[in-house]
Amino acid sequence: MLTPEAPRGCPLCPRLVAYRMENRAAHPDWWNDPAPSFGDPNARLLVAGLAPGRMGANRTGRPFTGDHAGWLLYDTLKKTGFARGDYDARPDDGLELVDCMITNAVRCAPPGNKPTPAEEATCRPFLVDRLAALPRLQVIVTLGDVSRRNVLKTLGLPGTAIPPGHSVEGQAGPYRLINSYHCSRLNTNTGRLTAEMFEDIFRRAKAMLT
Ligand code: URA
Repeated sequence: MLTPEAPRGCPLCPRLVAYRMENRAAHPDWWNDPAPSFGDPNARLLVAGLAPGRMGANRTGRPFTGDHAGWLLYDTLKKTGFARGDYDARPDDGLELVDCMITNAVRCAPPGNKPTPAEEATCRPFLVDRLAALPRLQVIVTLGDVSRRNVLKTLGLPGTAIPPGHSVEGQAGPYRLINSYHCSRLNTNTGRLTAEMFEDIFRRAKAMLT
């Protein structure tokens, strides 16, 4: 039996559980649990993020939903045909992913958006099963370096098998992997990642699908 999603109340990482409890005490109306992957169970494209943002997926329960990064990600997925409907930063906005699923390397929000290597390793079995549970998966877009490393390790490869950097591409086991800079507020506000650069990643991913 595959376990592609961490259960609600997942107890595996003490520091992340403590952070969840803090957030739950301050905001009992938030999701405050591992954020499940979102999208098409028959997807050929998987987008792998880092971890839920405290005010994003940790609040709303859907990856990238409600934080700054979600606006560019969902807009780009719509432009490139991987999403339809309107994104409105709420899990009930009706947005649908098309041939695409979004997941995170670490499923619980980490303090300061920084999971520890031990937390990445503890959460990795869910990512292993997430990949295994996508029967048509062909291409993985990794958002940022933590995601790139974790996807490679998930496939039993060294974290260096495909080097870091925007737009770097390579073969990762049976999948094609394209790495992008993360669509974080920091990267977009500083111009390190532009909307055009990001769109180009997804156009290339689409062109690779067979
Ligand atoms: N929200 C997510 O769900 N993942 C990220 O990597 C960043 C924000």
